Amino acid sequence: MTESRAQWKSKMGFILAASGSAIGLGNIVMFSSNAYRFGGGAFYLPYFIALFLVGMPVMVAEFGLGASTRKSFPLAMRVAGGRAGEFAGWFAILNAGFITMYYITILGWVAGMAWGALTTDVTASFGASAKPPFFDSFKMTYGPFFGVVLVWILNLLIVSRGTKSIEPVVKVFLPLMWLAMIVLVFVGMSLPGGFEGVKVLFTPQPEVLGDLSVWQGALSQMFFSLSLGFGVMTAYASYLPKDSDLTHNAVTTSLLNCGFEWIAGVAVFSILFSFAIAPSSSTIAMMFYVVPAGIAAMPFAAKAFAIGFFLLLLVAGLTSSISLLEALVAAGQDKFRLPRWRTLAIFGTVGVIGSLVFALPAAALPGLPLGLWLLDLTDHWAFGYGLLIVGLVECIVIGWVVGSGRIRDFVNANSRFRLGVWFDLLLRFVIPGLLLMILISAVSQGEAGGLYGTKTDFSKTEGILGSFLRVSPWVVFLVWMLGGGGLAWWLSGRRGVEEGLPDLEAPLPSGPGVRSAGEGTAGEVDS
Ligand code: PHE
Repeated sequence: MTESRAQWKSKMGFILAASGSAIGLGNIVMFSSNAYRFGGGAFYLPYFIALFLVGMPVMVAEFGLGASTRKSFPLAMRVAGGRAGEFAGWFAILNAGFITMYYITILGWVAGMAWGALTTDVTASFGASAKPPFFDSFKMTYGPFFGVVLVWILNLLIVSRGTKSIEPVVKVFLPLMWLAMIVLVFVGMSLPGGFEGVKVLFTPQPEVLGDLSVWQGALSQMFFSLSLGFGVMTAYASYLPKDSDLTHNAVTTSLLNCGFEWIAGVAVFSILFSFAIAPSSSTIAMMFYVVPAGIAAMPFAAKAFAIGFFLLLLVAGLTSSISLLEALVAAGQDKFRLPRWRTLAIFGTVGVIGSLVFALPAAALPGLPLGLWLLDLTDHWAFGYGLLIVGLVECIVIGWVVGSGRIRDFVNANSRFRLGVWFDLLLRFVIPGLLLMILISAVSQGEAGGLYGTKTDFSKTEGILGSFLRVSPWVVFLVWMLGGGGLAWWLSGRRGVEEGLPDLEAPLPSGPGVRSAGEGTAGEVDS
């Protein structure tokens, strides 16, 4: 007998973990910079359309895939779409792996900022006129290395025992995050002029709606913010009891995520407008220069707010990065039946090295005009394009190969709110169509949204370095497509535990021939 699959202790635990995954840097800073970039209130309409037409249905599908197969993403996709499905699953996992690495690098910087807030005079070091701003001098030191290692250790500890160690942590962290954000909103709104910022956020500007890039921004914000297209939600849902109300879980998770995002936007905009500080369309700039400058201008307790803000970012980021790590580890563990600690050791080692490389250029090569180019490039491909490609393939596999009708039946069997045929239409036609359109427009304009938000301009860098930097986006793209695609194909061909997978032809809930771990009747966990 194989070990039975771990399970969340309560529905609450699952919702906290899933919304903890969703709520992260994307909510606190990326949303504000996107809202600013795409014209404040103009972002509204595409945003809500993306939420209801794309975000929620894809989340239901990812939950359904995980809960019905009780497998993490690649194997769940194998059940759904054979080897091609598994190939796409591994591609998603590799894509998620890259994003995990630099997400954790950014969290290492966030930890450094929290340390800076604690140990320096915030009004001077974080202020708009600081020369150099704290972040710049911090990046030149080896401080980021410590930050990155620290954040990795925290991640490994929190996921060490899977749901057993994740659940207690999110139960403490999530309420704290909400509390901190609510305090920030009240403070921001009570600042003189703060309300002006809120007005900008909510004043609609219908004229930009014809602009495809606004739609692209809204869709990638939605995918990233809801943690879709990473296999994360599938991994988390694979630890749910089979009779969970998945529609309810998906709606709750998305609304919690988007609610948090909106109030974070209110906090950020009101603080910035009160001190006449221009927002930025780059998430990185917003996080490390703009918002710190706003906080430094606070008439009282600037230091406490600075410490609090960066701790909030760190905690919110951690509840996201652990979900990424869990998705990766679960994928490796499910496929190769490795013990958890070994899988963690493998992913941890590769991950730490990767995150350190992203932190490297500035620390090791001060003075070179490299800046954050590696992060910028990876972000450009893995986030800007990779996510949308994964989303597209995932919808095709679920919509056409496994049949969205079967996922729908599975979900409906235990949900109070019943999904209608519209769910199939969305997954089969509308969502892939939208994603395809956005992808084509992104490719043709060479513009993709990302966490970084702005593209580094290499045109002024001279010499050999300059020529390399100018072609490097394409080098990175080729390495990623050929290397990543090849590796994913190889992984999907490796013999793993396929023989124990649920039968694709059988009805999804619990068909004959199901022999894998944890499969059986409801409540099987401890059997
Ligand atoms: N949703 C997270 C955020 O908004 C990022 C994330 C994406 C986390 C995918 C996990 C998986 O920051």
